[in-house]
Amino acid sequence: MIRYHNVTKTYGGITAVSHFSLEIGRGEFFGLLGPNGAGKTTLIRMTTTLTPLSSGMIEIDGQAIDRNRTRIKQKFGVVPQYSNLEGELTAAQNLEYHGRLYGLSREARRRRTTELLGFCDLTERKHDKAKNFSGGMRRKLMIAKALMHDPEIMLLDEPTVGLDAGWRRRIWDLLRNLNERGLTIFLTTHYLEEAQALCGRVGLIDQGKLQKTGKPEQIIAAAGNYVLEYFHNGETLQRFFNTKDAAVASAKEISGDFKVREANLEDAFILLTNKRLEE
Ligand SMILES: Nc1ncnc2c1ncn2[C@@H]1O[C@H](COP(=O)(O)OP(=O)(O)OP(=O)(O)O)[C@@H](O)[C@H]1O
Ligand SMILES: [Mg+2]
Repeated sequence: MIRYHNVTKTYGGITAVSHFSLEIGRGEFFGLLGPNGAGKTTLIRMTTTLTPLSSGMIEIDGQAIDRNRTRIKQKFGVVPQYSNLEGELTAAQNLEYHGRLYGLSREARRRRTTELLGFCDLTERKHDKAKNFSGGMRRKLMIAKALMHDPEIMLLDEPTVGLDAGWRRRIWDLLRNLNERGLTIFLTTHYLEEAQALCGRVGLIDQGKLQKTGKPEQIIAAAGNYVLEYFHNGETLQRFFNTKDAAVASAKEISGDFKVREANLEDAFILLTNKRLEE
């Protein structure tokens, strides 16, 4: 239902997104994984028509996004990387305001506000100003706001960045619930654990280029299911193997300390890009 065809975005001399092609199907939970500056936000902003493409095309349900922008926008619920809440408005007023912008009737606004505050577990704080919310509560309110007009697709740009482990899991549960109810979810993250825990399919992006897509376990298996990790000449090196036995056998050549463990997405990312995702 979302189709990126050779999408490129340049800012002056900088190529933020380069020849990006991808299809995301209805009901999918897709995660775009990449380090700082990889082009994730640029891609989300282009999808929601906030940033124009330099070349290429994005289609939603077979329609180019630059046609019929109002109708396309109704299909998306967007949770941007930075807060889009009105700090001086209460939680309920923030939702109400968004509903009005999207043309919901008074009755629909009231119903959705009550429903979504309940869904996000914010009912008790509905009369508090958004500026007094903690980071985690703010993120939940942003999700509720994005859901007000009953979108088909949720686009979330690093929805759990800066949150502690408990809050991150609460957000994950909300997103899982939404996906189970049939919403298509496209999120960006630089947390591997998040992509591995939530997403049916992930894409690895680096320097604007999509390096690989697949189920997390497929990407890991393509790199090698086991890693031999050892310290040599001042740096940590890794070798990949399909079986644990092969990794252990190879470790016999190593003189210092080593570790054999199961591979994760981070290992695959390092192998593909020679870069770490998380500091
Ligand atoms: N408005 C802009 N003007 C100039 N350059 C920009 C602009 N927006 C983004 N860029 C550049 O495009 C590249 C991709 O940026 P983008 O914000 O999309 O990355 P990101 O993956 O979202 O990073 P982060 O994880 O830090 O949020 C970066 O080199 C950035 O400096
Ligand atoms: Mg970003």
